[in-house]
Amino acid sequence: MVKRNTCVFISGYGSNLKSLIHNSRSHNFPVNISLVISNNINAKGLLHAKINSIPYLIIDTNKRNFENKILYNIKKHKISLICLAGYMKIISKSFINKCGKKIINIHPSLLPKYKGLNTFERIIKNGEKKTGCTVHFVNEKLDSGKLIIQKSFFISKNDKANILKIKTQKLEHKAFSEAIIKMYRYN
Ligand code: GAR
Repeated sequence: MVKRNTCVFISGYGSNLKSLIHNSRSHNFPVNISLVISNNINAKGLLHAKINSIPYLIIDTNKRNFENKILYNIKKHKISLICLAGYMKIISKSFINKCGKKIINIHPSLLPKYKGLNTFERIIKNGEKKTGCTVHFVNEKLDSGKLIIQKSFFISKNDKANILKIKTQKLEHKAFSEAIIKMYRYN
């Protein structure tokens, strides 16, 4: 199987990056993690790129030409798929158009519910019975592209935001890879 080169964007801890790297080692997984991009020089997740000898790039989103730098590297590494794994910056419409690659994102709620930040706190406050995670295509609107996969669980009476985060991320680590398998299942 020819694996597609994939770039993972991160901003922080990188637990989703870690599980993608792990799953990509299986011979029938459809992608390779070939590049990691972080907007945060202190992102803990960069360690996963370093220990797995995956090229990584740190970008300064305050610089005017930062998108061109990303585009140059996407081309250089022959990237077919971009995975946003805890990348806490909005991807611009012009980047999406210029890039022309598939871009997918993982979000810690059952979209279209709870787009944006502080999802767990809002879910608890609203007394939701159920939550989960979503992997979706990225379009120009925040957390709004076509859904690829969702996984859910029932919230227990005593669950606080930190527990919801742990339970949600456990599902995310499966959902991201399953979404990628689903995307490429017929080609
Ligand atoms: C994940 O839970 C992901 O869903 C969330 O950030 C976390 C990153 O964790 N993303 C967003 O909230 C994007 N709107 P990780 O760095 O350990 O993979």
